[in-house]
Amino acid sequence: MPLPKAELHLHIEGTLEPELAFALAARNGVSLPYADTDALREAYRFQDLQSFLNLYYELMAVLRTERDFADLADAYLARAAAQGVRHAEIFFDPQAHTARGVPMETVVRGLGRALGGSVQNHGVSTRLILCFLRDRPAESALRTLEEAKPFLDRITGVGLDSAEVGHPPAVFREVYETAAALGLRRVAHAGEEGPPEYITEALDVLGVERVDHGLRCVEDPALVDRLVRARIPLTLCPLSNVRLRTVDRLADHPLPAMLDAGLLCTVNSDDPAYFGGYAGDNFDAVRDELGLGEDHLRTLARNSFLASFLDDDEELRTRYLAEVEAYEFP
Ligand code: ADE
Ligand code: ZN
Repeated sequence: MPLPKAELHLHIEGTLEPELAFALAARNGVSLPYADTDALREAYRFQDLQSFLNLYYELMAVLRTERDFADLADAYLARAAAQGVRHAEIFFDPQAHTARGVPMETVVRGLGRALGGSVQNHGVSTRLILCFLRDRPAESALRTLEEAKPFLDRITGVGLDSAEVGHPPAVFREVYETAAALGLRRVAHAGEEGPPEYITEALDVLGVERVDHGLRCVEDPALVDRLVRARIPLTLCPLSNVRLRTVDRLADHPLPAMLDAGLLCTVNSDDPAYFGGYAGDNFDAVRDELGLGEDHLRTLARNSFLASFLDDDEELRTRYLAEVEAYEFP
């Protein structure tokens, strides 16, 4: 039995495995510019975030119907459950779909179909987080939040993703203020490729409660101190960092030093279909390559539930935390 954990940094579109991409392409009459799944996998050699995003957005062309989004999310939930994920807070990128003519309603209803049955079918509780694409104008983010209003009963929070450098958090001040007024929780990608200042700005201007990645905080000791004192969780994604060349090798990843510094670190998969592994694979990788022992792994699992938005269901959080403490490593 795998260590129970929460996944807090997971783009549902990043769980599109090549086999499902081809199946959906066939179902929807979409042609992909790859001969087969092997040829597609060959394209998974990334130089940086942008080279990944180009393929990530290209493959989304196969996602067209409610059923497609339901199948995508259901396949993820099955995989996640098999790797010990008990709770998943799932990002989605509505602008990447509405821009292709797929309505917000189709996306949310499709994902909602899978998430609605997730506890029963997979034993995984879920939350949905709507991400704004930071390489599109702030007005587009505001329009997107407006379009999401009929579905806010299914959406826990908002996030900010896509190409980071040159797109600082402060551009999105107004949409985050509006989201907060609507009672939505707030997270943002910051310090993945962007500088530590973007992390500070996400905290100060957007009021984020959790930072996605946040890796580059290690370059600013005063910021590390602030994150430790305020107990701001970081949703790290080690295999993603290697594949997008944010770190040269996993053995160079600062996770152990970050834990030692007292940061509230969590380990997540980001875009598992593209980066070589789901949540449990990331845990296995940091165990094997960074030498993290049982105490550290248990801390990471505990942190994942502490950092989750289960505040609205403290009973569930308490139950999950008890599972972590009772877990016996094989
Ligand atoms: N969208 C999907 N994955 C992402 C990542 N790692 N960084 C920024 N935006 C993303
Ligand atoms: Zn991400």
